[in-house]
Amino acid sequence: MPDYDPENDPSHLALRFRDGRPKIHQSASTKGCRIGEHVEIAARVTLRDVAVGAFSYFETGGEAAYATIGKFCSIAPNVRINALAHPLDRVTTHKIAYRPNEYFRWRPVDHAFIDARRAASVTIGNDVWIGQNAVIMPGVTVGDGAVIGANAVVTKDVAPYTIVTGVPARPLRPRFDPATAARLAALAWWDWPRETLFDAVPDMAELTIEAFLDKWEALQPSRSTSRK
Ligand SMILES: CC(C)(COP(=O)(O)OP(=O)(O)OC[C@H]1O[C@@H](n2cnc3c(N)ncnc32)[C@H](O)[C@@H]1OP(=O)(O)O)[C@@H](O)C(=O)NCCC(=O)NCCS
Repeated sequence: MPDYDPENDPSHLALRFRDGRPKIHQSASTKGCRIGEHVEIAARVTLRDVAVGAFSYFETGGEAAYATIGKFCSIAPNVRINALAHPLDRVTTHKIAYRPNEYFRWRPVDHAFIDARRAASVTIGNDVWIGQNAVIMPGVTVGDGAVIGANAVVTKDVAPYTIVTGVPARPLRPRFDPATAARLAALAWWDWPRETLFDAVPDMAELTIEAFLDKWEALQPSRSTSRK
């Protein structure tokens, strides 16, 4: 009788996936959000009209509004995504001029201001790491695989696989050479079904980036039908 191989036992394999329901801390607020599988939202995070892709996580105290966030993003404590721009051209920058309803009856919220804010949404790609206290300004797009340094203020789009730092954020260096970045973008491993991810995880840790790409490009894994 052959040795028992748990990796080939269907009942064992069925157990390899943990519960994918998002974990949202009770002190977090997620109004109008779409939240993917395996997402973690830590304590005191406030999200408003945000789509968060599968496996992405917000650490304590983060805040995002009117944003789309890809899969596998790591968002450090106290990050601000789409930091509100108060109006600069009115008599006051104070919210009395756009949310007077908070103080007075018969003085409604300024819908044009809210609509303009929604239109300046932020897009964060897949596999983006945002360092502690970083601020991403309205209308910015951050490409797949980019890294935002701690305390950066990102005022312009960030190209894929680029590390930016500082105030205002400037490219520090590419994360990979252009050919490797292009191969990763084509592989789009973040869209693989969880069965494939389960198999690939040891290689993510153990292989060099070149060896990983050589092996997994040759295997040509399918994309998941789930785009969450
Ligand atoms: C941006 C970052 C990823 C760069 O890492 P790295 O490539 O290993 O960078 P190095 O330490 O080699 O530093 C390279 C240069 O960038 C500078 N630098 C690094 N991080 C910086 C930052 N956040 N802001 C400004 N400058 C920074 C360094 O001083 C150094 O400058 P020099 O060449 O003039 O000496 C990293 O420094 C960072 O900010 N990580 C985020 C950490 C964090 O917030 N973790 C929270 C837990 S999720």
